[in-house]
Amino acid sequence: MTTLLEVEDLRVAYGKIEAVKGISFSVEAGQVVTLIGTNGAGKTTTLRTLSGLLKPLAGKIIFDGQPLNGVPAHKIVALGLAHSPEGRHIFPRLTITENLQLGAYLRDDKAGIEKDIQRAYELFPILGERRKQAAGTLSGGEQQMLAMGRALMSRPKLLMLDEPSMGLSPIMMQKIMQTISELKAQGTTILLVEQNAQAALSLADHGHVMEVGNIVLSGTGQDLLHDESVRKAYLGED
Ligand SMILES: Nc1ncnc2c1ncn2[C@@H]1O[C@H](COP(=O)(O)OP(=O)(O)OP(=O)(O)O)[C@@H](O)[C@H]1O
Ligand SMILES: [Mg+2]
Repeated sequence: MTTLLEVEDLRVAYGKIEAVKGISFSVEAGQVVTLIGTNGAGKTTTLRTLSGLLKPLAGKIIFDGQPLNGVPAHKIVALGLAHSPEGRHIFPRLTITENLQLGAYLRDDKAGIEKDIQRAYELFPILGERRKQAAGTLSGGEQQMLAMGRALMSRPKLLMLDEPSMGLSPIMMQKIMQTISELKAQGTTILLVEQNAQAALSLADHGHVMEVGNIVLSGTGQDLLHDESVRKAYLGED
C-alpha cells in the first residue's frame, strides 16, 4: 500500500490554547480514515491545518511524498488535497453549476471540468435538477452534497470531509454515507471527520478517536465499532 498522507506529532494552537497536542496518523491510498471525537476535540483544527489554513506549532505533514509545512493553501489544493469544510461554505448567490465550476478554479481543461460537473450530477441527481438555482436556496442536505461535489471538482487525491452529516435527517445522512462508499469504491481516498461515530466507523478502514487535542484510541473501523469504551462514549450505550 502507498501512504498518501503522513501526519507526525502535529501540534496546533490558537494563541495560548493548544487545540491539537501532538497527533500522528496516516492515510493509505484508497482508504477511508475517520477522526471521531466530541466537540472541541481538535478535528476541524486538524483538517484546517492539513489544508494550509492554519500554521502548525510543530510536527510534520507529508502528502503524496511531499512535506506540506509552509506550503500555501491554494498550492495544497493543486497538489491534490481537497477540503469540504464544516458548515459547508457554499456561495449562496451563485448557482449550483457556478459553485461546482469554482471547485475547479485551478484547472483549465474545459472538457474535463464539464465531464466532472456531469459526474457530480450523476452522484447527486438533485443537484443536476436544480443546476440553475441559487445555491442558498438548497436544503441543508443538498448544500452538503454541493460542498462535497465542489471539493471533488479539483480531482483530489485525498478528499477531506468535515462533518458531512451535520444537521441532516437520517435519510439524507444515509445518502451522504452511501455516496462516501461509492467514492471509495471509485478509488477516492477520504479523510472523514464525523460526530456520527456509528456511521463513520461502519464505512471506515481505520479510525482514530480524538479527545481534547490527542488521539486516545486507534484501530480498524470494525475494531472501534466493537470497542467497549467507544460504544459507551460515542455510541450512547451503557
Ligand atoms: N479560531 C479559534 N480561536 C480560538 N480557539 C479556537 C478557534 N477555533 C477552535 N478553537 C478551539 O480549539 C479547540 C478545538 O476546536 P475544533 O474546532 O478543532 O474542534 P472539533 O473537534 O472540530 O469540534 P466539533 O466537533 O465541535 O466541530 C476547541 O477548544 C475550540 O474552542
Ligand atoms: Mg469541528
